[in-house]
Amino acid sequence: MPQPRYDRFSVFLHWLMAVLIVGQIALGLWMTGLPKDGSGLRAAWFNVHKSWGMVLCLLIAVRLAWALLRPRVAPPPGARALQALAAGAHRLLYALMLVLPWSGFFGSVFSGYPIRFFGMPLPKMASRWDGAKELFSNVHQWAAAALVLLVALHVLAFLYHQCIVKDTLLQRMRWPRRRARNTCSTVQHFS
Ligand code: HEM
Ligand code: HEM
Repeated sequence: MPQPRYDRFSVFLHWLMAVLIVGQIALGLWMTGLPKDGSGLRAAWFNVHKSWGMVLCLLIAVRLAWALLRPRVAPPPGARALQALAAGAHRLLYALMLVLPWSGFFGSVFSGYPIRFFGMPLPKMASRWDGAKELFSNVHQWAAAALVLLVALHVLAFLYHQCIVKDTLLQRMRWPRRRARNTCSTVQHFS
């Protein structure tokens, strides 16, 4: 039977990844502006970005698997067209969350620079190939721009629900509150 809200694990992954992805985008935009001055600062921050990017790659795999395995979550009440639009937007968010780390990873593999996972060098997987590096870098950049746009729309949709429709959409993506133990229905009734 479809569930009326998201389970704890989905809520945990949603908010953890929202924070990590926003941080990762900010880091990506900032680090590309660092000078190539031979100090090693740029390379160090690039490796921080690559390491967290690979962590995100694992998290999205777990999230996707969980989204397919968990019981279906019923759409919030509303017009059919809006429900279909929201489902489409969520699918696109998932697709971008997959494309981003993989394009970043392959761009880095073909750049010829070593990839360090939190300091630990990964084995060299390919030699430098400028054409492939350029292609994956472009995909990475465009996917990041699309994700920023879609997350902005996602937050706008959330604000629409919160401020205009005034429904309980956020409750569906909130950590479920524990029911108070000795809750007496009469007390609830009169309070
Ligand atoms: C990088 C940032 C974000 C991404 C990638 C993202 C992605 C998603 C996805 C894919 C879903 C569908 C549920 C799932 O399968 O997990 C979802 C649901 C939801 N998100 Fe986000 N989200 C982000 C940030 C935010 C923010 C900042 C807010 C609010 C301010 C928000 C509010 C919600 C709500 C309320 C739902 C539940 C919608 C429903 O009931 O169907 N999200 N999000
Ligand atoms: C969800 C995960 C990721 C997000 C949201 C993300 C986001 C970004 C953003 C916004 C930029 C700046 C784009 C620009 O203006 O050039 C960037 C650049 C970059 N990212 Fe990521 N990234 C992710 C994962 C990764 C991974 C896993 C790697 C490599 C293992 C990586 C490697 C790079 C590199 C090397 C750049 C510099 C520009 C280039 O050469 O393409 N990223 N990333």
